[in-house]
Amino acid sequence: MEMIDWQEGCPVFLDQTRLPLAVEYRRGETVEQMAQAIEKLQVRGAPLIGVSAAYALALAARLNQGAADFMAAMEKDEARLRRTRPTAVNLFWALDRAMGEIRAAWQAAGPQGAAKRALEVAQTMKAEDIAINRRLGAIGQQVIQDGDGVLTHCNAGALATAGYGTALGVIRAAVEAGKRVHVYADETRPLLQGARLTCWELMEDGIPVTLQADGMAAVLMAQGRVNKVVVGADRIARNGDTANKVGTYGVAVAAAYHGVPFYVAAPQSTIDRSLERGDQIPIEYRDGQEMRGFQGAASAPPAVETFNPAFDVTPARLIAGIITEEKIYRPKDGKFDL
Ligand code: MRU
Repeated sequence: MEMIDWQEGCPVFLDQTRLPLAVEYRRGETVEQMAQAIEKLQVRGAPLIGVSAAYALALAARLNQGAADFMAAMEKDEARLRRTRPTAVNLFWALDRAMGEIRAAWQAAGPQGAAKRALEVAQTMKAEDIAINRRLGAIGQQVIQDGDGVLTHCNAGALATAGYGTALGVIRAAVEAGKRVHVYADETRPLLQGARLTCWELMEDGIPVTLQADGMAAVLMAQGRVNKVVVGADRIARNGDTANKVGTYGVAVAAAYHGVPFYVAAPQSTIDRSLERGDQIPIEYRDGQEMRGFQGAASAPPAVETFNPAFDVTPARLIAGIITEEKIYRPKDGKFDL
C-alpha cells in the first residue's frame, strides 16, 4: 500500500483520518492543501510527515514555475509547511534537505531544473525511508524473543512512514524471522491512531494483535502478558529523552515499575542533535475539541476545559535502548550520548 505518491503533477496520499472505515486517496493540488493534510493528520507519523513535506515542495516547485522570483515563492511555501506541526523533527529535516537540493538545482538550471530535482528528492526520500525501516527492523528484531508480548503506543507502522514502519517494523522483522509475537496496541486517545491504524495494519498482515484502553498497559504488565515495549518517536534529544505520542511517558513509567524493557525505534533523522535535553523539544498543543468528542459525536461537556498536548517526553533513564537503522544505542548511567 502506498502512503503517498506522485500522479499527474500532484502528490496523492492515503487519507488516514478515514481509516479503518474507508481506504481513500486524496490529491494535493495546492501547497495549502498539503499543509492542511499534515495539520489534520490525513498524513501523520514523523517520517511520513517529512516525506509528505518533500512532495509538497515538489508541488510548490511545479506551481511556482511562472513566479517572478522563483526562490522567494519557494521560501514562502516552505515557511507555510514549517508552521504545520512543531514536534516531529523529520518535518524540518526533510524541508531543509529538499530546499538545499532545490536551491542548488535552481542555480544550475533555473526553475525547470529545480522542479525536476524537487520531485527526484521526494521520490528518493520515500525510497530511502522504506530501506531505512527495513534495516532498523532487522537490527531491532534482535531484542524480541519468540513468544514475546509486545506493547506499542500510537502508530509507528507502515502508515506512519513511507512503508514497513519503525516500531512495527521491528515487530514485522521479528515475525519474518520466525518468532511468535503478540502485539498489545494502546488505543491512543484522543485520535485513536492505535485502535484505528495499528490494529488495522497488523491485522492486514496477519500479525496477532489485542486492542486495549490506554490505561491498561500497567495491568497487562502486572499480568505478565507484556514483556517488551517498542514505540516510535517524533524527536529524540542528544541525551536520549524522547518525544512521542501523548501517553508514551506513562507507559514507560509502568514498564520501569514492572521491569519490562522499554525500547524506542526511530531513524537517525528523528534524532535532533541540536537539543541537549527533552525539555527543549517543542510540544504541539492541539484543539480541545479533539478531547470533547470524536468524529462529530460529543463525549464530554461542550464547555469543559481540556489539556491536549499531542506528545509527551519520556526521560532517557526509562529507555532500555534506542533502535536505529545503524545500531541500537544503549544508555550509560541512565543517559545516552547520541
Ligand atoms: O500525531 P501523530 O499521529 O503524527 O503521532 C505519531 C506518533 O507519535 C508516532 O509514534 C511517531 O511519529 C513515530 S512514527 C514512525
